[in-house]
Amino acid sequence: MKKICVMGLGYIGLPTASLLANNGYEVLGVDKNARVIDKLNAGNPHIEEPDLKGIFISALNEGRLKVSGKAQKSDIFIISVPTPLGDDNKADLSYVEAASAEISRYISRGNLVILESTSPMDTTEKLVGGIIHENSGLKAGKDYLLSFCPERVLPGKIIFELVNNNRIIGGIDRESAEEAREVYSSFVKGEMFLTDLRTAELVKLVENTYRDVNLAFANELSLICADYDINVRDVIKYANMHPRVNILNPGPGVGGHCIPIDPWFILQSVSRKNTLIERSRRINDDMPLVVSGRIFDLIRKNKNPKATILGASYKENVGDHRESPTKAVVSDLLAKKVRVSVYDPLVDDFINREESLEASLKSSDIMVLMVGHNVFRDIDFKKACKLMRNKTVFDTRNFYDGEELASRGFKYYRL
Ligand SMILES: NC(=O)c1ccc[n+]([C@@H]2O[C@H](COP(=O)([O-])OP(=O)(O)OC[C@H]3O[C@@H](n4cnc5c(N)ncnc54)[C@H](O)[C@@H]3O)[C@@H](O)[C@H]2O)c1
Repeated sequence: MKKICVMGLGYIGLPTASLLANNGYEVLGVDKNARVIDKLNAGNPHIEEPDLKGIFISALNEGRLKVSGKAQKSDIFIISVPTPLGDDNKADLSYVEAASAEISRYISRGNLVILESTSPMDTTEKLVGGIIHENSGLKAGKDYLLSFCPERVLPGKIIFELVNNNRIIGGIDRESAEEAREVYSSFVKGEMFLTDLRTAELVKLVENTYRDVNLAFANELSLICADYDINVRDVIKYANMHPRVNILNPGPGVGGHCIPIDPWFILQSVSRKNTLIERSRRINDDMPLVVSGRIFDLIRKNKNPKATILGASYKENVGDHRESPTKAVVSDLLAKKVRVSVYDPLVDDFINREESLEASLKSSDIMVLMVGHNVFRDIDFKKACKLMRNKTVFDTRNFYDGEELASRGFKYYRL
């Protein structure tokens, strides 16, 4: 049985390691966070994803999946560590560097190394390949196989999408791409397309950048429609009835660790200035300030104003709050001396977080819907009415029925 070492057991690495272990491989999952390793060894995945716990536990109990803080000799190494954005809008590749250095100590001739982390151009060959060569003397494409296989999964549906999505697989040579396809074909039902490393790296970045630019267009339309006093959602709905138009929905900003970040990875090595990609990024980054400005305008006349923010995560029905637009909204409101209370039952740790909705709404002047979690559909507005000082709702997601809220005595505004 071939042995795979998966470096990084987060949203990507843990589901991937669990699937591989359930489909014919002996897997060692490695993570540098001791808390993660302790939880996993106790049988508790540290991330919530449908169907993950079952496949993780079965692999762990049957001894096909082990977790550890340190790598070991393996046939295949998969790198799925974070690649966050640094302060200079360039990728922080320190985790990829550390994982590559560790792999260098255990790699042998004939092994396969796969980078899954979203990375700027040339990271696979120059950085991963360069570090391994420097430390082990082994050269990619000659002594071992090197591949880049990006992820395009949706949080909340990761297991389903890992299995069913089509994949793009880059290789330093054809054999590397084919060997990587062999690994994924143990559980992937989607189609797999083989290409070179650099094309695969850019394809991954282009996918999220396409969405970011489309969202910037939608967000800019929402500002233009506000000037014209027209409902942007109606405009987009009717425009999308054209067979070749597909505009995404506007919102209070673009969050998560992929869409707001990947466009910068494309731009970091190009000399071109004032690109559509960069301008789109700035439009989306400004949206939370448009939202906080609207909130402030609606409550500024109240004495010691208070805003209740519903939703801290970057998208609906998940607890992940990386790059969440709510953060920027809260900081701006606090700077404007507004009292802010954030309620999100899916997020455990967040600035000005309140445990209960009641406490959060108490003597509040405005309820701001930032994230369309299903649980926010069940809010008891009759009770909310009694708790709030002023009955105003600002809906940044077109989530509630404005007429119904108006009939309950709320002033209803949408983005
Ligand atoms: N989460 C997604 O939906 C998604 C989708 C597509 C692509 N990606 C990309 O996949 C990569 C991983 O993302 P994620 O969401 O799984 O990150 P994550 O933060 O959930 O998990 C990464 C894990 O790697 C561990 N780690 C850090 N350095 C390490 C090292 N040197 N050796 C071993 N483990 C180490 C961390 O402790 C952490 O547990 C990133 O590049 C991300 O952009 C993520």
